Amino acid sequence: MKALFWPVCCAGLLSLCSCGPRVARVESVDIVPRPVTVEASDGAFDLTRSTKICLLSDDTMLLRSADFFNGLLQPSLGRALKVETGACADSDAIRVELGDLAPEAYEISIRPEGVRIVGGSPAGVYYAFQTIRQLLPEPVLRGEKAGVVELPVVEIADQPYFAYRGGMLDVGRHFFSVDDVKEFIDILAMHKINRFHWHLTQDQGWRIEIKKYPELTRVGAFRDRCDLDPAAPNDSVPYGGFYTQDEAREIVRYAADRFITVIPEIEFPGHAVAALASYPWLSCTGEQYEVRQTWDIDDRVFCIGRDSTFRFIEGVLEEVVALFPSTYIHIGGDECPTDRWEQCPRCRERMRAEGLTRPRQLQGYATTRIERFLSSHGRRLIGWDEILDSGVSRTAVVMSWRGTEGGIRAARQGNEVVMAPTTHCYFDYYQTADTAGEPLAWGGCLPLEKVYALSPCEGLDSVQRASVLGVQANLWTEYIPDFAQAQYMLLPRLGALAEVGWSPGRKDYAEFLPRLKRLTRFYDACGYVYAKHSLAD
Ligand code: ACM
Ligand code: ZN
Repeated sequence: MKALFWPVCCAGLLSLCSCGPRVARVESVDIVPRPVTVEASDGAFDLTRSTKICLLSDDTMLLRSADFFNGLLQPSLGRALKVETGACADSDAIRVELGDLAPEAYEISIRPEGVRIVGGSPAGVYYAFQTIRQLLPEPVLRGEKAGVVELPVVEIADQPYFAYRGGMLDVGRHFFSVDDVKEFIDILAMHKINRFHWHLTQDQGWRIEIKKYPELTRVGAFRDRCDLDPAAPNDSVPYGGFYTQDEAREIVRYAADRFITVIPEIEFPGHAVAALASYPWLSCTGEQYEVRQTWDIDDRVFCIGRDSTFRFIEGVLEEVVALFPSTYIHIGGDECPTDRWEQCPRCRERMRAEGLTRPRQLQGYATTRIERFLSSHGRRLIGWDEILDSGVSRTAVVMSWRGTEGGIRAARQGNEVVMAPTTHCYFDYYQTADTAGEPLAWGGCLPLEKVYALSPCEGLDSVQRASVLGVQANLWTEYIPDFAQAQYMLLPRLGALAEVGWSPGRKDYAEFLPRLKRLTRFYDACGYVYAKHSLAD
């Protein structure tokens, strides 16, 4: 009996005590995007499974951050840290409270006796935990067992420069599963990006269930084949998919838990072939089209002469605004040829009735009409910079993609702007000039350093600068068939764009690279695929 007692007892004790080694703190404080101030000192706070997270302010959204942090630590510590609300012990605790700071701002104080986090809002607290995540030692990132996790003694004060920091995923050209979309959102969150622009409709696929118009997903969500390279068709099997409304709500919740707003995009009046294939009465000719199987611009667009087109788009947007709480609703507006309108008696009649002299003005007419509809639902219209070409109201937000010129023009006339120029923000472009070993991409060359060089407010005076809401990375997926490749195109360029959006006044590429290299340890820990061209020593 005695011989058995000790081993059994020890095993019992081991399961109670902190198990695993002391894991030394990181050697330097390397955070992306770069915080406003970082003051590091010697010493460490010893985080163990007995450390508590104390939420001192009464806001249930603070629990999201505690859960997030616990999710990171649990594999190493073997259990979640206890979360308490209200009073807190003076030591061995992570004290979290809301304070008088800008909404997304935060302060972190790590001292040997404990950690204190103050956020301007729960979002600020979440960003503080994202920053502390980057202070975790590598064995913890990998989920290796730890009894004591050292956090370095440091004081950090931080807040973003731009209120809008976005990432766009095109799910029209290629479809990505709900799990992929969640992982995309996780990647955005890691970079303190706060808008997920979900590009939901395209010529090649309509991806969101609309109850009033079921053919959109029965017909429009599938195409007969999917050519990665139109010059060498390689895939002759049907392809498609869509998100149910329940799944869309799940994504919205998932993003909201990470302080990310989902901005849905419903393309109008161009990039509409999947919709027209579903409902032929939406086009100028009423012909039956197939969902498009190859890329590029198509001149088959919504008929602006038909009132039924507006009943349709309003019916769609009614369901979209019910699903997505975002103030901004993106209506596309890019690359819409006018050829069909010029031939169409209904469109010509619309021009006559509205006193329009150029077919392009039909787009302005349609955009204004949709903007009125969205405002009646308390929402703001956002569109690609082509919406400027046919007259746009002051309240529309312009997403500048054909360079920054559209954004500059818009800001000068008082419209709010998101800068997402092809020159710096198109992550479907190659990351290196030597494309031999690269997966097929759209073209262009956008290396990391060029992304980092974006200066979103260049050419604007101080008043006009206030109209620039922020920046966005765009991931078009013509040549991105799966999520591993999406990660490869996104990372680490998203790290550079995150810094453009968060800390543009503190950019220094040489100083950025070592911090970015440290961030790639997190990519490794999460199993993300990323490009290494700019990371070699
Ligand atoms: C776009 O790249 N067509 C917005
Ligand atoms: Zn027409």
